[in-house]
Amino acid sequence: MRKAVFEKSEQTADNTALFHVIDPRAFKRQLLDELCDLATRVRTIAKHSAGARFLQDMLPHRRAMLYFTQPSTRTFLSFNNACHILGMRTSEIRDRSISSEVKGESFEDAIRTFSSYVDVIIMRSREPGRAAQAAQLMDTIARPIPIINAGSGRDQHPTQALLDIYTLDRSFSGRGGIDGKVIGMMGDLKRGRTVRSLCYLMRNYVSMRLVFIAPSHFAMQDDIKMYLREQGIPFSETERLEDVLPELDALYVTRMQSEWDSPNESRDIDFTPFGVGVKELGILKPEGIIMHPLPRGDEIDPSVDSDPRAMYWRQERNGMWMRAAIFLKIFQLEKSIQQLDPEDFSIQITGA
Ligand code: NCD
Repeated sequence: MRKAVFEKSEQTADNTALFHVIDPRAFKRQLLDELCDLATRVRTIAKHSAGARFLQDMLPHRRAMLYFTQPSTRTFLSFNNACHILGMRTSEIRDRSISSEVKGESFEDAIRTFSSYVDVIIMRSREPGRAAQAAQLMDTIARPIPIINAGSGRDQHPTQALLDIYTLDRSFSGRGGIDGKVIGMMGDLKRGRTVRSLCYLMRNYVSMRLVFIAPSHFAMQDDIKMYLREQGIPFSETERLEDVLPELDALYVTRMQSEWDSPNESRDIDFTPFGVGVKELGILKPEGIIMHPLPRGDEIDPSVDSDPRAMYWRQERNGMWMRAAIFLKIFQLEKSIQQLDPEDFSIQITGA
């Protein structure tokens, strides 16, 4: 059922067209490469005031709604700012208790109402499957608008995975890209939606390998492991970071997702071996990178921040450019950016 939805409406016959963004499995290599390239073009154009004005003229006739009923800092702000970079206006609901859902309005009626006023809905929910449900509804109404999943419970976070791919791609740009790399994912892999989504995207890269590093209670779930096996993506699992750290090209660290704890679930689990500090930096390859979707707990010592291999602050900024690229694809404006030489704007400025 779910498969049919994303095949029908997320990707059309044009291999790279984009409408809803719900499930990372809908993304193929060609589209990923195009989004990464678009994100870089947008960030280059935005550096110059003439370029920034050009971008502002991309989507002034469109409106976006940010429907975030679960806490968010980076995802909310980067989507909001990506909208503003492209001249799109935004409205938001961040608390269900102030929407008519408290009067008993159904989720479907609420989404349909939002869709009457805006051209895209970006939504984050505590429940898995909500964004997919909204996208399904859109496929039945007269004026369907795209739905973007900005995090659905413990399940998926597709746009985070896209910005993670962008970060990996940029970091490995002089070294053959993501193909052939060894990527470690560490922490609470059981309940972390970012790593689950990133695993789905990995089928687009060749000769790469995953290493899961987690306490056994918070190991990667079987559904993802089954997917990786089906796709022929090799992976291994360990509880000992020091055994695998020397072979990693990237270490993707995650925090303990204690908001999902059943009573005392994580209380007796020692999470300290699943962190990065000065000692681990000494073992990591000189060109290895450290990523984290943020927010962090204690798992990355702040002293790591100043190491050039710490990529998480750049990663969060990459999210804004990647989300701008997603909007350009959804509204089919990518060509007007791809035809430009981003440096044109610097010439204009210099000449002015
Ligand atoms: C992540 C999330 O919300 O899943 N944060 C984010 O979107 N950058 C990761 C987390 O909360 O641990």
